[in-house]
Amino acid sequence: MLISAIGAVAANGMLGLDGWLPWDIPEELAYFESMVTGAALVIGRLTYESMDVVPVDSFVVSRQADLSLRPGCTRVATVEEGLQAAVSTGKPVFVIGGASIYAAAWPYCQRFYLTRIERAFDGDSLFPAEIPLDRWEIVEASSRMLLERKSGEMVECRFLQYRQPDPRPLPTMHCISESR
Ligand SMILES: NC(=O)c1ccc[n+]([C@@H]2O[C@H](COP(=O)([O-])OP(=O)(O)OC[C@H]3O[C@@H](n4cnc5c(N)ncnc54)[C@H](OP(=O)(O)O)[C@@H]3O)[C@@H](O)[C@H]2O)c1
Repeated sequence: MLISAIGAVAANGMLGLDGWLPWDIPEELAYFESMVTGAALVIGRLTYESMDVVPVDSFVVSRQADLSLRPGCTRVATVEEGLQAAVSTGKPVFVIGGASIYAAAWPYCQRFYLTRIERAFDGDSLFPAEIPLDRWEIVEASSRMLLERKSGEMVECRFLQYRQPDPRPLPTMHCISESR
């Protein structure tokens, strides 16, 4: 079962601002949506709360046992529990952030789909520096100039697919948090 992560990062490492993205690049967002359609998702609680639409088979990582979620979403207490539950759906699995979830999930990911936005942006959330992408093979790469709507400028977006050579196997789990 393929476990992947997907995200986008600015040239200065920023990935979030005020609970949303630092940039407004509709075509990058459309790429993200096309990639995760039909997948089971593992999502941090803050990122979940920022999303207008959350598909079924979304597993929201939170330490709040009484967290109330939208239909089709399940609270999980750890990233490992979320990955296990997502794998058990039989769908492809995508970890979609935010920063704290990438930081905990990357050892288990076979792939990381990362869009590198080749400009610095103001932000308050950094891509985790400990993810050793520089040691992973890039198996696909393409580049496009796309409109960033806040600045009205074109920015280069590099769509990279990294392959982790030796992902950590998921621990075996016997119980999953209560579904909602
Ligand atoms: N550029 C991108 O591709 C991208 C992708 C996704 C998100 N983002 C941005 O990233 C920012 C949010 O990232 P974030 O790191 O602040 O928040 P986050 O990862 O979305 O959510 C953090 C929350 O997840 C739960 N959590 C995190 N680690 C946990 C663990 N090990 N065990 C149990 N629960 C855990 C906690 O929820 P509780 O407090 O409920 O316990 C924590 O408060 C936003 O600005 C968002 O727009 C960017």
